[in-house]
Amino acid sequence: MNIDETPLQNPGPGEIQVEIKACGINFADISVRLGLYAAARDLYPLCPGLEFSGIVSRTGTGISDFNPGDRVFGVSRFGAYATAINTVPDHLWHLPQDWDFSRGAAFPVAYLTAYYALHHVGHLKQGDKVLVHSAAGGVGTALLHLLKANDNLSAGVVGHHEKVPYARKAGASVVIDKERQPLWETAEQWSPEGYDMILDANGASTLKGSYAHLKPGGRLLIYGFASMFSRSGKKNYLKLIWYYFKTPRFNPFDLTGTNRTISGFNLIYLFEKKSFFREIMDVLLRMDKENLLPEMPVKSYPFDDVAAAHKAMESGKTVGKLVLRT
Ligand SMILES: NC(=O)c1ccc[n+]([C@@H]2O[C@H](COP(=O)([O-])OP(=O)(O)OC[C@H]3O[C@@H](n4cnc5c(N)ncnc54)[C@H](OP(=O)(O)O)[C@@H]3O)[C@@H](O)[C@H]2O)c1
Repeated sequence: MNIDETPLQNPGPGEIQVEIKACGINFADISVRLGLYAAARDLYPLCPGLEFSGIVSRTGTGISDFNPGDRVFGVSRFGAYATAINTVPDHLWHLPQDWDFSRGAAFPVAYLTAYYALHHVGHLKQGDKVLVHSAAGGVGTALLHLLKANDNLSAGVVGHHEKVPYARKAGASVVIDKERQPLWETAEQWSPEGYDMILDANGASTLKGSYAHLKPGGRLLIYGFASMFSRSGKKNYLKLIWYYFKTPRFNPFDLTGTNRTISGFNLIYLFEKKSFFREIMDVLLRMDKENLLPEMPVKSYPFDDVAAAHKAMESGKTVGKLVLRT
């Protein structure tokens, strides 16, 4: 990555210009930086960044809900690692009064993903027992917050011992520490009958086990492939190819025979569905107002230190969200 200076045009009709104060970092940004993110394939050179917060600096014609000076947060299909962005009202919200810019930049992707996964894709029900992989990360923490708010029991799996208290605090009924405990034996001890839902963004390293630990009627939600990535900051083609072939292909006869469901999704492909983000965000903001969502741990990095933030994310040791402050 380079830090570059480039002029930003005035906002066009129906557009809003935001002076960015903070932007969220997502695991997807690593994939974008390495040139591996399918939705970014034809867009390079590209400014990464899927979420931001800041202050409205100008509005184009036809904008009535936002005014210069408003504190806002939003999502963008790339371009948020910047000091300013032009966006549209569908992708922008007023920042709640008691939120700072870091919280605003850390909120949308993790919670929209988690809510969409649990309620739209996974059809979460009262009494469902849910297993969440990478439970102390950005999406993982949001999933645990939402499961707790819905009174569901959850097993949160973490890859490093230091993350255990974070997953517990986020609301996991039980935490499985993969560094010190055998993952699936421990998961079986806690729920011998299996799980109603398992959320897996690791890919090859856990997918087969996740599928095997669904109850009849259980749902496996696949939404990422983090384990394919090298922790070195570079592409490791050998690992990518090895994990690609190691990724299980599921058998339709087995699926029907055991009443299990497998779903996959990526929010990035839902960006243009106008009402989609707004409906879910309305629910999330209402939950926040009712104090149902605890605060996400957020670590801030200076904008110029983006490389350190990416290195931290790639280490697999971070908890909660990382943000860049401009
Ligand atoms: N499909 C969608 O719409 C969507 C939207 C948002 C995020 N995602 C996916 O959800 C996952 C979580 O995203 P996030 O931004 O919240 O990240 P995160 O969970 O804060 O960080 C990624 C976590 O993945 C685990 N991991 C497993 N293998 C890894 C590896 N080789 N290198 C680094 N970390 C590895 C680590 O946790 P443990 O070791 O504790 O497991 C790490 O902390 C990612 O796979 C991301 O691509 C998908």
